[in-house]
Amino acid sequence: MHSLERRQAIIVLDFGSQYSRLITRRIRESHVYSELVPADTTLAELQLNSHLDIKGFILSGGPSSVFDENAPVCDPAILQSGLPVLGICYGMHLLALQLGGHVAPAHGLREYGPATIEVLVHGLEDAATFRIFESIMASPAQTEHLDQPPVAQELRLPVWMSHGDSVDQLPAGFQVIATTESNPVAALANGQGMIGLQFHPEVTHTPQGREIIRNFLFRVCDCQPNWTPNAVIDEAIEIVRQQVGEERVICGLSGGVDSAVAALLLHRAVGNQLTCVFVDTGLLRAGEREQVVDTFSKHMHISLVVADARQRFLSRLAAVIDPEQKRKIIGEEFIRVFEEEAERLEEQQGRISFLAQGTLYPDVIESTSHDTANTARGIKTHHNVGGLPKEMAFKLVEPLRMLFKDEVRELGQALGLPEEWVWRHPFPGPGLAIRIIGAIDEQRLETLRRADAIVIDEIRKAGIYRELGQAFAVLTPLQSVGVMGDGRTYANVVAVRAVTSGDFMTADWARLSPELLGRISNRLVNEIPQVNRVVYDITSKPPATIEWE
Ligand code: XMP
Repeated sequence: MHSLERRQAIIVLDFGSQYSRLITRRIRESHVYSELVPADTTLAELQLNSHLDIKGFILSGGPSSVFDENAPVCDPAILQSGLPVLGICYGMHLLALQLGGHVAPAHGLREYGPATIEVLVHGLEDAATFRIFESIMASPAQTEHLDQPPVAQELRLPVWMSHGDSVDQLPAGFQVIATTESNPVAALANGQGMIGLQFHPEVTHTPQGREIIRNFLFRVCDCQPNWTPNAVIDEAIEIVRQQVGEERVICGLSGGVDSAVAALLLHRAVGNQLTCVFVDTGLLRAGEREQVVDTFSKHMHISLVVADARQRFLSRLAAVIDPEQKRKIIGEEFIRVFEEEAERLEEQQGRISFLAQGTLYPDVIESTSHDTANTARGIKTHHNVGGLPKEMAFKLVEPLRMLFKDEVRELGQALGLPEEWVWRHPFPGPGLAIRIIGAIDEQRLETLRRADAIVIDEIRKAGIYRELGQAFAVLTPLQSVGVMGDGRTYANVVAVRAVTSGDFMTADWARLSPELLGRISNRLVNEIPQVNRVVYDITSKPPATIEWE
């Protein structure tokens, strides 16, 4: 077993900006590893992690002003470490202040939104100071005369600005490297890789932002772009092997991409020491159980146990109407079934020491991030249904805990997970139970399963499945009168919901074309006798939630 190589990393200190995570993601998109850590993390603490070869730091923006009481500061040792530091917005103010410059408070005037910076003309002798803007071309309007000999011209870049306070005195050794009309110090730097930007390079509203970040990574910090999916897989396998040794591991498959990728990684790492468990709650989509068996057991040859718990769930849910009650029952029953299966496996094959879970990075950093933590916590408490309690007798293996969702999808692809799984929409733990408004029974489940399959089928055929965050049908308890052929019908109203969303904390209803909506509606009513009316949900989140219950 060889030891892990040290991995080049950029550490992002989170001062609470809504964009902090985005900075980390932008860095990783350039194939450099990055971690987001709380603002008060010290250099000494970071150096304890011997696997990290820290190449530089980014101080994020944040809602504070350096003049606030208890405004967060950066460990001075980080600024004295000799490693490059890029301060963004609040991070720039801190950088300037902590290195001996001066910040002027906002005079009621705040600049937030699009702005244009002018990068100051520089000579060759200043190259190191201006490295962050090196080779960045002017915005498209200025690139018309490519056939002409280059003329030194001002570099003006559109950026996304946010500033209240501003730096009005530079620390020793620093220069102003960009200005805007309203802010004489839009960017500052010294020749040793200390840089401050008043604007946000991490957002797409700063079109050359990616290039600016890449300059920091590759020209200022000398990083190598070697954090690729295959490197991540190799490393994860190595870590899992070291952690698990010869012991046995159990992994719950939910049908979603996270647990699927976790299972595939585990299987690569420890082979037959892994057993997967899939609980058929009877609240799943059409064909889901078969797909899990096909993919994992038949195709990937992973040891898989399917627990058929359909009747147990149905009988416990009979006549339950309250959504939270449904969630509670399903959560409890799920844990019970899983524990029983684990016990059975232990009786048959001996002790299982580890439980593998598909925990992702956003879950890990949620508790440390100042930005969305509070809102996120309030809204999501009920969303852990379908998970397993922490106090189970297993040790946890979480091979995805340093990855974002997109990265998990990339890994899934590299591990040979079928395309259809890789891009699968999230599906709630309580499954179809919270998409049947009111009481659940076998027939309603079957009706909804058919409706759901039609919605997804039409959306796939229209080629927009990937653009949507989620799409599904809801079976309402409303009945309405209809007419079909010569007869009068009295059947259910089905609601169709399709949303676009980034993080599922907010979502917008998807503008599906009338033609697509028409096809969905026709098929629902024609193919499912229990449905005679279809409505489309045009509420965003907030104020509505994505699910109806
Ligand atoms: P809402 O309905 O709150 O949903 O806008 C946001 C996201 O969470 C999913 N969701 C759940 N996931 N257990 C889960 O595992 C739950 O109880 C649950 N409720 C909602 C929902 O599908 C959406 O992706």
